[in-house]
Amino acid sequence: MAVARAAADMVSTPDEAQKLEVIRLGHPILRQVADPVPEEYFGSSRLHDLFRNMARTMGEEEGVGLAAPQVAEALRLFVYRIPGDGEMAAVEPTLLANPEIRAIGSEAEEGWEGCLSIPGLRGLVPRHKRIKVRARSLEGQSVSFTADSFQARVIQHEFDHLEGVVYLDRMTSPSSLAFEKEWERYILRADE
Ligand code: NI
Repeated sequence: MAVARAAADMVSTPDEAQKLEVIRLGHPILRQVADPVPEEYFGSSRLHDLFRNMARTMGEEEGVGLAAPQVAEALRLFVYRIPGDGEMAAVEPTLLANPEIRAIGSEAEEGWEGCLSIPGLRGLVPRHKRIKVRARSLEGQSVSFTADSFQARVIQHEFDHLEGVVYLDRMTSPSSLAFEKEWERYILRADE
């Protein structure tokens, strides 16, 4: 998932990692259901390398989330980070593999999203406000936590990529779609 430029200054990237090519809408992998991460991948140098490379790519592309299908790896994993501000606690780049999510309660909220595979656009997308997340870590440990608001939105957006779904599919109406520059000029500034 992509955010406004202001959030991108807090990125730190590992040095040996490589920047990967992010595939764009129209590439068939983005519309496939991804395969579970095989057991033997956990803790392997292959998964560590993929994580480092995806984390670097996410940072350099100024994103807050990147799913493996976006770098043409049809695996059920994604990386995400929360830059953190006065209200939100920061989350360093984190890998979640074979995730499961479910809504807590019925509350939904609309928020602006962008996607590194759909560059240059922003749109309003309704998401569950609170979710329960269960997943495996880089080393294969089971993790389970509750996410809300922006973090819940990022995780739902990235999870969708594992199902071949993009945020455009989730929009209530295409009428909010805006190019990034116009969005920053007419919508973001109007909100400040
Ligand atoms: Ni995306």
